[in-house]
Amino acid sequence: MSNSRFVEVVEDLERTLLDFIRKHGVTHSEYRQATDLIIDSIKAGEESLLLDVFFEAGATDVDNADLAGSMAAIEGPFYLEGAPLLQAPHVLPQRPAEKGDTLVFRGTVRTPDNTVLAGAELDMWQADADGLYSNIHPDIPDWNLRGRFTTAEDGSFEVTTIVPPPYEIPKGGPTGRVLNGLGRHFFRPAHLHLKVRADGFRELTSQLYFKDGDYLGSDVASAVRDGLVVELERTDSGYEARYDFVLEPPRR
Ligand SMILES: [Fe+2]
Repeated sequence: MSNSRFVEVVEDLERTLLDFIRKHGVTHSEYRQATDLIIDSIKAGEESLLLDVFFEAGATDVDNADLAGSMAAIEGPFYLEGAPLLQAPHVLPQRPAEKGDTLVFRGTVRTPDNTVLAGAELDMWQADADGLYSNIHPDIPDWNLRGRFTTAEDGSFEVTTIVPPPYEIPKGGPTGRVLNGLGRHFFRPAHLHLKVRADGFRELTSQLYFKDGDYLGSDVASAVRDGLVVELERTDSGYEARYDFVLEPPRR
């Protein structure tokens, strides 16, 4: 962000919040409750969650307005760098008796002019059948249902995992207090998280939902978009889904 952009945006934010305080007659006590909420969210490790639930999808929409590649999606608070690099046939790391229906997820990675990208990396993470993430929630092996894999010579990929369920975001902390106060539920629709990257192209953060799934219309993070919903097809051994990613060149 350039200095002029910083000044423009931050001064407008300052004006907007001061107008907001006057408009609603926000008292000093209420102002202090708000600052305490932010401090509490940091103490609880929820500062990203608190902001992401309300605002991340809005910023992603701005990025998507002039995108040449696949629609971007919110990252959410649970991404971690350094997931295991998988060898084909790709199977996300899982426990011996991992709960959940088997999901085979396939697709391709291409450029906007439809050239296939061999060796593109997909970095995938998702909740388990209880709606919990490894490395975040306790009692799950590190890197469970997290992994990186690459596309084949024809730009295709295939990975086997489980169908994730809708899940409730953490509701016992400051974020939960806010959502409770608003009378909202805590559910996100079932989804897969992916980052897709290839040399010379802009990294894409995606998040894919399943058609006809619960909470698509009332996602607590308001992040579902039409271009991110895939069909979940029944097969003899579970389910399959497909998505073709398009990466765009870096922006200036
Ligand atoms: Fe998630």
